[in-house]
Amino acid sequence: MLSVLLPGALCLLLGRLSGSSPADIPHIAAYFGTKTRYEDVNPRLLQDVLSVNMSVLMPPPTERCSPVHLTAVIRHGSRYPTVKNIRRIHRLSELVRTEAARGSEGWLRDIQSRWEAWYTEDMDGQLVMKGREDLLHLAVRLSVLFPSLLSEENVRKRMVSFISSSKHRCVSSVEAFQDGLRRRGRHDAPPEYDHQLDDELMRFFERCRGYVEGVENNRTALMEVEKFQHGEEMEAVRRRIAERLGLPQHRLTPDLVEAAFFLCSYELSIRSVHSPWCFLFDESDAKVLEYQSDLKQYWKRSHGHVISGLSSCPLFHHVFRTLDKAGRPRRSTDASPEPASILVGHAETLLPLLSLLGLYKDQTPPTASNYQSQHGRTFRTSRIVPYAANLLFILFDCQRGPRLQLLVNESPVRFPGLQDDAPLYRDVRAAYRHLLDGCDFHRECEGRSGGRGPNTEL
Ligand SMILES: *[C@@H]1O[C@H](CO)[C@@H](O)[C@H](O)[C@H]1NC(C)=O
Ligand SMILES: *[C@@H]1O[C@H](CO)[C@@H](O)[C@H](O)[C@H]1NC(C)=O
Repeated sequence: MLSVLLPGALCLLLGRLSGSSPADIPHIAAYFGTKTRYEDVNPRLLQDVLSVNMSVLMPPPTERCSPVHLTAVIRHGSRYPTVKNIRRIHRLSELVRTEAARGSEGWLRDIQSRWEAWYTEDMDGQLVMKGREDLLHLAVRLSVLFPSLLSEENVRKRMVSFISSSKHRCVSSVEAFQDGLRRRGRHDAPPEYDHQLDDELMRFFERCRGYVEGVENNRTALMEVEKFQHGEEMEAVRRRIAERLGLPQHRLTPDLVEAAFFLCSYELSIRSVHSPWCFLFDESDAKVLEYQSDLKQYWKRSHGHVISGLSSCPLFHHVFRTLDKAGRPRRSTDASPEPASILVGHAETLLPLLSLLGLYKDQTPPTASNYQSQHGRTFRTSRIVPYAANLLFILFDCQRGPRLQLLVNESPVRFPGLQDDAPLYRDVRAAYRHLLDGCDFHRECEGRSGGRGPNTEL
């Protein structure tokens, strides 16, 4: 592993940001599902947030290769809770203040007397300062990993393209990423932001009628989640939490148990503090709650329903068109290819695309009744889609032709069915032939039967 040294000023600036020491981290921090911090997936970043592992790039050592293009699909960074969760937090803290037993334990006294529900509804899902840092640091690390692609010059000449979801937290994230690229170049010019908004690409899920009607607004589609929420594992967690709080169990609804768990995560991801709420949960409670959130993502956004993956067809085609263009043989007189394309969206953007690519698909689907046999599952949202999660497509120019490698959260991931870490690009295309030749958003999302003409919206 190579730890990259940065100019002093930048180190000082960033040093301030690495707030909590590992000792302050709650023992359940790696189980927060989509509310997990990126550094709890990549613990080396807890020591040095700018450390880069150069060995993750794995083109065959026998061939001379150089990276020619990077497409990065990135989730926004840490954010405030949404209004729904802010309301639950207030309900929970009110309940615990007024009805829980007076705390005999220090953490319960802290919750009751010192802790304040400081969240207000106007915060609704906005990117927090820590979330800006998530993206800024990611940009610095990627520019170290890909110095020729994310070079100062390429950024300055606007060779790198930036596309974002229109949501405020994504726009703020793309700006923070650009700050990261510029700071590395130590550019003192005033910040200039440059991105395109494209919800057809980054928020395809809300435009796919088959998905919205068949899954999102369809209670039976999420039956497994509901069953688990009232099943024996969750009931046992609820009983233990109610007991620790000295509350009658019926007062502590499953929603409020989840709110307490999320509170521990928010206090950590927003303020880097080890909240007294975290003491409510032991590791086995956290694993059950993590499973509940994995079930939800699996059935709502991933392999649980084929349409979820198919709704990402526009993004899939966009990525491969970009790669095709970048890998095309060119004469020396041709313009140089686009070095990088940065796409910023949501967990709801990444999960369907990862599913469409066939990743994290376990033999047995997770259900309400097989928690016990799912401990070794690869579908762990805490690891796949933490804040600032990223899916990187790296195109190499090699002696035998272009090769493509995938990194998820800066670790190598293989294409299903292909043996190499960086297979030939034409082999990747062959593996996804059925999608490259099909995967039509309108046919999949509007139903196959209707002889609809081309919809001007796409
Ligand atoms: C760096 O990446 C390689 C390849 O994935 C991995 O085997 C190695 O353990 C990583 N090193 C560290 C320190 O994370
Ligand atoms: C709702 O989901 C169930 C289970 O996946 C499915 O059988 C049903 O067709 C869906 N309903 C609609 C309106 O799509």
